[in-house]
Amino acid sequence: MADTSDIIREFTTDVSLYEKGRPEYSKESVEFLLSCVGALPSENNEATKLLEIAAGTGKFTRVMAEILTEKKANVKVIASDSQEAMCDMFRRSVPRIEVLRFPAENIAFPDESFSAVICAQSFHWFANATSVSEISRVLQPGGKYGMIWNHRDFSVPWVRAMQGIIDPFVKQKDMPADPRELKWMESLNNSGKFTSVERNTVFRTYLEGDMDAILSVVMCISAISQSSKEKRVEVEAKIRDILTNHPDLKGTKVYKLPYITDICWCTKK
Ligand SMILES: C[S@@+](CC[C@H](N)C(=O)[O-])C[C@H]1O[C@@H](n2cnc3c(N)ncnc32)[C@H](O)[C@@H]1O
Repeated sequence: MADTSDIIREFTTDVSLYEKGRPEYSKESVEFLLSCVGALPSENNEATKLLEIAAGTGKFTRVMAEILTEKKANVKVIASDSQEAMCDMFRRSVPRIEVLRFPAENIAFPDESFSAVICAQSFHWFANATSVSEISRVLQPGGKYGMIWNHRDFSVPWVRAMQGIIDPFVKQKDMPADPRELKWMESLNNSGKFTSVERNTVFRTYLEGDMDAILSVVMCISAISQSSKEKRVEVEAKIRDILTNHPDLKGTKVYKLPYITDICWCTKK
């Protein structure tokens, strides 16, 4: 029987909608992750290389690059993504960083090329034995693997109400498990190639904007953007209804959608 954990899933969404519909990473959270993966200058500040997998449009990379420059870190960043449309957008939005097209399951670099690998908002898409093996292969001994996600904060009632509309789409059989369920961690633990995952969930961020900005958040979710026009129209109407009529939002013109930042990291054994 085929090992279904190794199925490469298709992440499809409108690239410009994606840019609008995802929150910016807070500088504090990115700096924290960079310190966890040893990318901030140490005493000797020796040259290192960092690979970002599934860099998408460069949302995380832009913040990372700014911090590395500010801190005068001696780190060469190389980005990658499996989709040409994402790489295209990346080249336009982060022109000073090289981006290469390859999937996490087949990393186009020799063994032990990097001291750190980072995946932002993405590892749950390809948390399979092949990608874990590839990430371990391109890391130097003792190299660090870091992950970061911004999760909408469901402790807020109107955010939870919106999730009620989103859930039937994202909880389909062919969609990856919600990263909050931490299923992705099994692939790292089962591999025996990494130390136990460490985790920090104290950072917060938010996406601020009018109703259309909040609608972009929902409409750029891969499972929704891939659905039929009829379904998308229905989702949009339901979300507009929550944003207009939810008791906590009456009269709101500028919304603040809250996120919890989940930062995880481990070390190659
Ligand atoms: C939610 S986006 C995250 C993009 C970016 N890291 C960010 O933080 O905005 C997920 C990205 O994972 C990429 N992706 C999905 N499956 C992949 C795979 N098997 N290998 C490499 N990239 C993959 C998609 O093309 C997409 O750009």
